[in-house]
Amino acid sequence: MNKFNLLKKEIWSIIPKSPIKSDLKHSKLVLKWVLILCPNACEELQISAIGHDIERAITGITEKNIKNYSKIKQFKKQHASRSAKLLSEILKKYNYSNKQINQVKYLVKNHDTGGDSDVEILMSADSLAYFEYNIPFYLKNYGEERTIEKCRFMYERLPESAKKLVKKIKYKSKKIDIIVNRAIEKNN
Ligand SMILES: [Fe+2]
Repeated sequence: MNKFNLLKKEIWSIIPKSPIKSDLKHSKLVLKWVLILCPNACEELQISAIGHDIERAITGITEKNIKNYSKIKQFKKQHASRSAKLLSEILKKYNYSNKQINQVKYLVKNHDTGGDSDVEILMSADSLAYFEYNIPFYLKNYGEERTIEKCRFMYERLPESAKKLVKKIKYKSKKIDIIVNRAIEKNN
């Protein structure tokens, strides 16, 4: 097995320890979307896709720890920094170069706020995976109003091309469909 596959295997063995049970599939879907948006994605971007939320599996800290949703941006920034640091520690065991490790750190650190084109791809893939899969889990954990806020946050940060992809996602559940429509209606 090559280095990347061994690393992927290790990351995917850690993620199930997260208190958020949807995290493993989310990680796999973010990689899927990165490769749809950018079929030639470099290894650093693919590693960032699979490990961008790894801190939840290691620290156990989730959005349940924020009482006031208006603090979400600040919380997300700290979450991204913690994931970047923890992921870089794993990468060191696999003899990735400092340049590669720093690139992964940069991508993960900025995945919720934006940056260069690779960060934008990662952020779009994260949102698309959320819209494709995570909403029912988020709803169960945090309730309807907060899910609408979260959907809005995940949608507003997208470029127009990715917003179009979100609009194409079909939901079997009427309730989820209504939530998504309420969240993105102002941005149509
Ligand atoms: Fe994510």
